[in-house]
Amino acid sequence: MKFTQAAGANPTDAMRVLGHPTDRIEGPLKVSGRATYAAEFAVPGMVHGFVVGTTIATGRIMAIDASDALAAPGVLAVVTHENAGTIGIGDDHKVPMLAGPKVDQLGQAAALVVADSFEAARAAARLVRIDYAGDEGAFELAQAARAGADKPFRSNGHGDFDAAFADAPVQVDATYTTPDHAHAMMEPYASIASWDGDRLTLQTANQMVDWAARDMAKILDMPKDKVRIVAHHIGGGFGGKLWVRADAVLSAIAARQVGRPVKVVLTRPQMFNNTTHRSSTIQRLRLGADREGRLQAIAHDSWSGDLPGGGPEGAGAQTRQLYAAPNRQVVEWLAELNLPESSAMRAPGEAVGMMAIEAAMDELAETLTIDPVDLRILNDTQVDPEKPERRFSHRDLIGCLREGAERFGWSARSTTPGQRRDGRWLVGMGMAAAYRGNMVLKSAARVGIAGDGRVTVTTDMTDIGTGSYTILAQTAAEILGVELDQVTVRLGESDFPISAGSGGQFGANSSTAGVYAACVTLCEKVAEAVGFEPTNARFADGRVWSGNKSVALGEAAGGAGIEVEDRIEFGDLTKKFVQATFGAHFVEVGVDADTGEVRVRRMLGVFAAGRILNPKAARSQILGAMTMAVGAALTEELVVDPRFGGFINHDLAEYHVPTHADIPHQEVVFLDEEDPLSSPMKAKGVGELGICGVGAAVANAVYNACGVRVREYPITLDKVLAGLG
Ligand code: MOS
Repeated sequence: MKFTQAAGANPTDAMRVLGHPTDRIEGPLKVSGRATYAAEFAVPGMVHGFVVGTTIATGRIMAIDASDALAAPGVLAVVTHENAGTIGIGDDHKVPMLAGPKVDQLGQAAALVVADSFEAARAAARLVRIDYAGDEGAFELAQAARAGADKPFRSNGHGDFDAAFADAPVQVDATYTTPDHAHAMMEPYASIASWDGDRLTLQTANQMVDWAARDMAKILDMPKDKVRIVAHHIGGGFGGKLWVRADAVLSAIAARQVGRPVKVVLTRPQMFNNTTHRSSTIQRLRLGADREGRLQAIAHDSWSGDLPGGGPEGAGAQTRQLYAAPNRQVVEWLAELNLPESSAMRAPGEAVGMMAIEAAMDELAETLTIDPVDLRILNDTQVDPEKPERRFSHRDLIGCLREGAERFGWSARSTTPGQRRDGRWLVGMGMAAAYRGNMVLKSAARVGIAGDGRVTVTTDMTDIGTGSYTILAQTAAEILGVELDQVTVRLGESDFPISAGSGGQFGANSSTAGVYAACVTLCEKVAEAVGFEPTNARFADGRVWSGNKSVALGEAAGGAGIEVEDRIEFGDLTKKFVQATFGAHFVEVGVDADTGEVRVRRMLGVFAAGRILNPKAARSQILGAMTMAVGAALTEELVVDPRFGGFINHDLAEYHVPTHADIPHQEVVFLDEEDPLSSPMKAKGVGELGICGVGAAVANAVYNACGVRVREYPITLDKVLAGLG
């Protein structure tokens, strides 16, 4: 099915199953420990691999002496570049998953010790001796950004920013920084590789099954159809598991060497330097407005870093479309750094970009003495500011702002900072817009009805904790007119039809649209099977109907059942229209007047993101997203070690993600809307939207509480205290 024009009335509109706050259908498996994650499969004959990471960031391996490790109890092999054979590079990797002789980053795998127990492998890993010749590396963004200032990575604009900014009577020119961030998902990277002749099975923690098969085939130089990926349940990915990592590649190579299945799980400390992270950013915002607050000029310059051959954090993305202004430029700069690989993490681009522009908007509102909500409403746009002939498919940022202000009690906010006190706490409110692009990707599914009337949905889509199992079941139940418990959903295997996968908040909308396509085709087949005119057939109560005649689905399917495969492909509606998701975040914080400690007291997010397929699952996504964003605002920071070129804080004791005690009352509201230009589901992405804007709302609330504007995230107490005086 090709989606090329606005969806009309269709079977999803009944909202009999969709649109209800349905519990996770796989929830009982998870809470009873029966949902098997990658590292939990008991594969007969399985042995264990332990990664030895490089201890230099850039240079060469001169010699590896594995003799002591090989002589240690239980050790079966030590995989290194000397015996691993040729290793390719995955499509989106910048460096190979095994170093040697070249070393590309600190913590890159230099060896994998394989032993009959995890403990034996770990102990022997300490006995592998590696001699390195190290080179000089660049590790600090601020320095590297200065060096590379002559060549932007990409640049977009409209009008004449410089002239308009110079002429603007009211200006803000401020620079914000965000540090390197780690995904820090609950489940570590983990893989179990088994070979059957020339066929590889990889049970692995991965968001994108088809990309995993593609990259494993490329890296190991083997046919893709000989790679079988299994990823039934994933304990969070946040972008870190979009691509295979060292656990996947090295378990496969090791399993081939030792002739037994090999499990590799990265330890928590290894994850911080061996895998990917979000680059630090330096973002300069220049806003020029007239005296009424209308933006005349917007510029967003963003610097970020990556290994040679990489790309920048797209922190300017939202600035191209968030507010009207005739003169604008967004420029992204890339500094080559020899830190571990930068990559997609938790709403790449907007998550940190919004922390800058939405703080700058607060500074502009302050300068203009305009309410921050009103300033955003005043500068709303219904068209792409760079291409005014291109409209938004649907944009209700204003609705979110108004609804949020009303519900949060925004009118009680003091416009002068430092006015409200609750014991030792200075209390303030802040807000920010939320904005995140809406991507769609083609997605296929197989849907079948068995002779007993049960429906099975099969697709390689993943459920990374998001609710994919549930919303795909809801979609099939809705269209086929059956109850939710009549539907079985099978996900996460590369033998299944190729879905959008989980990433970039495209998963829910795209993969349900794929199931929609398959169900529509299945309905035609079922109608034909019982001699009904397909265009007149209705599906309800487990039966197919034509007028007042009906046949039970199981009977219609017959003994052999009926099964079809189809897919959704998207035309050019994301080019013809700007497609994005919107929201407004409101935050109240307390700042300890003596210590500068910041505590979030309450949070509200109001969102306009198309039809909400399952309000409970969507709310949970947003709660998690808002929590992550509090981390970025207040606690999360990878600390670069400029001597060795890696991250010093490499565990959850020192890389601080919010805990329950950090997160107070959260409220999530979805505006009731549909976006028929996005997909036949009329839905959009929602998972990452909840992150985008929160950080600035927290920073703006801190300012309102105590009058200290911290532009270097995270807003730790030392920075607040320095301003409190
Ligand atoms: Mo997302 S950072 O594209 O998994």
